[in-house]
Amino acid sequence: MKTLKFLALIGLLCILGAVGAAVFFFGGFYSVAGTAAEPKFVDWAMIQTRQASIARHAKDRAPANLGDAEFIKEGARAYTKRGCVHCHGAPGVEWSKFSEGLRPDPPDLHEIVDNREPRELFWVIKNGIKMTGMPSFGAIEVPDQEIWSIVAFIKKLPTVKDEDYKAWTEEPASPVTGTTPPAGNP
Ligand code: HEC
Repeated sequence: MKTLKFLALIGLLCILGAVGAAVFFFGGFYSVAGTAAEPKFVDWAMIQTRQASIARHAKDRAPANLGDAEFIKEGARAYTKRGCVHCHGAPGVEWSKFSEGLRPDPPDLHEIVDNREPRELFWVIKNGIKMTGMPSFGAIEVPDQEIWSIVAFIKKLPTVKDEDYKAWTEEPASPVTGTTPPAGNP
C-alpha cells in the first residue's frame, strides 16, 4: 500500500511539473531574446551535445588533395565568396560588427581548427548547426568539392598570413571551361 501511495505521489509530481513547464514556455514566460543568458549547465549541455553530435555524424573522408596549395587557394576564394568572412573574419579582415550580436558568437576559426578533424569541419559547413547562426551550405547546394576546398583552407588558417590571403583572393579564379556566354536578345 505504501509503495502505491509513493508511486501516486511521483505521478502527481510529474503531472504538476509538466503543467508548470507548459505554462512557463507556452505562456510566454521564457525569453527568446538572443541576449537572455541560459543557466551555466544549459550552456554546458548544449556544447557537449554539439560536440558529440558532430563527432558521431561526421563520416565523410577527406579527399587526398586536401593539402594541395592550389586547392587551399581555391578554398580561400570560396570562403570569401560564400560570405564566411562576415561572421568568422579572415586573415587581415575583420568580421562584420553584426556577428558580435549573435549568441552563440561565431568562433574565430583559426583558434579552433587544430582541435577539429577535416570530416567534422566538412559536416558542420555542409549541414550547419541548429539554433545558432551557422548556416547549412549544403542546403543551398554548394557542391561537396567546394566545401572540401573551404575545409582545406580553414585547416591551414593558423599559418596563413594576411598578405597570402589578400593575394589568393585577389587572383582571378581559373576560367570555367565548357560554358558559353548567354545569348543576347535578338
Ligand atoms: C551568419 C553567420 C555565419 C556565417 C555566414 C557562417 N558561420 Fe560558421 N558559425 C556561425 C556561428 C554562430 C557558429 C557557432 C555555432 C555554435 O557555437 O554552436 C559557427 C560555427 C562554425 C564552425 C564550427 C566551429 C566549431 O566549434 O566546431 C565552423 C567550422 C564554421 N562555422 C565554418 C564556417 C564557414 C566555412 C562558413 C562559410 C562557408 C561559415 N561558417 C559561415 C556563424 C556563421
